[in-house]
Amino acid sequence: SFMSEVMGLSVLEKQIREKLHIDNVIIVPGDSDQQDWVKQEMGKACVAYLKNVVQSDFTIAVTGGTTMAAVAEVMKPLEKDGSYLFVPARGGIGEKVENQANTIVSEMARKTNGEYRLLYVPDPLSESTYQTIINEPSINEILQQIKGANIVMHGIGDALKMAERRKTSDKILSELTSQNAVSEAFGYYFDGDGNIVHKVRTVGIQLEDLVNINHVVTIAGGTSKGQAIASYFKQGKTNVLVTDEAAAKQLLREY
Ligand code: F6P
Repeated sequence: SFMSEVMGLSVLEKQIREKLHIDNVIIVPGDSDQQDWVKQEMGKACVAYLKNVVQSDFTIAVTGGTTMAAVAEVMKPLEKDGSYLFVPARGGIGEKVENQANTIVSEMARKTNGEYRLLYVPDPLSESTYQTIINEPSINEILQQIKGANIVMHGIGDALKMAERRKTSDKILSELTSQNAVSEAFGYYFDGDGNIVHKVRTVGIQLEDLVNINHVVTIAGGTSKGQAIASYFKQGKTNVLVTDEAAAKQLLREY
């Protein structure tokens, strides 16, 4: 029945909270590997959460990916008279246009009557280009806005899947394999114990910035991400994890 379904998920939420040491866990029914609409359900849960915490002048930084694109699809006005600023959390990171953070922030801004800024930087960046780029005034200005974000929304991916999706060089791919990379978020790759095994050099939010951000919202689901989510949370910090039933069950099965 509907009630037992809902109660079952709240038990699961408690188990995940305890396992990953996260204050808030929201689980939606289904498996986003199997059904695309599950990503949108996670998106709706995320929008509901945002409505509770957002204040009218907040800056919201977001990463790319298909899950974030689904959040943008279901985005709704958050608060009457609010004027939010949406910014990409990091540089491009090799996604298709529709799944790039730049595209996603513009859609979120449109749907919430907010504003957005774009970040045009290639990645990975060489060390010397990186130094030049962060000192470029127009880039530096948006970087300050990103670092000052009140809310960060981000995805998590399977390490090797993400490396391939980004057309990562063979050299780095084999490094990731030999170091047993399991998860990826913000351009960082982690092994099963949460150690950083590789980092894509680009501008924007760095892992250590997360401690200074009041609301970190993580959105990731699907059976295939169970292990990646567990790996990321050995290191990553979040205030709320929005996931689906299949990822949650997979996570408990493996750990
Ligand atoms: O590339 C941006 C990103 O947010 C990654 O950090 C993350 O691993 C991935 O997208 C998640 O993508 P998807 O939601 O399509 O699984």
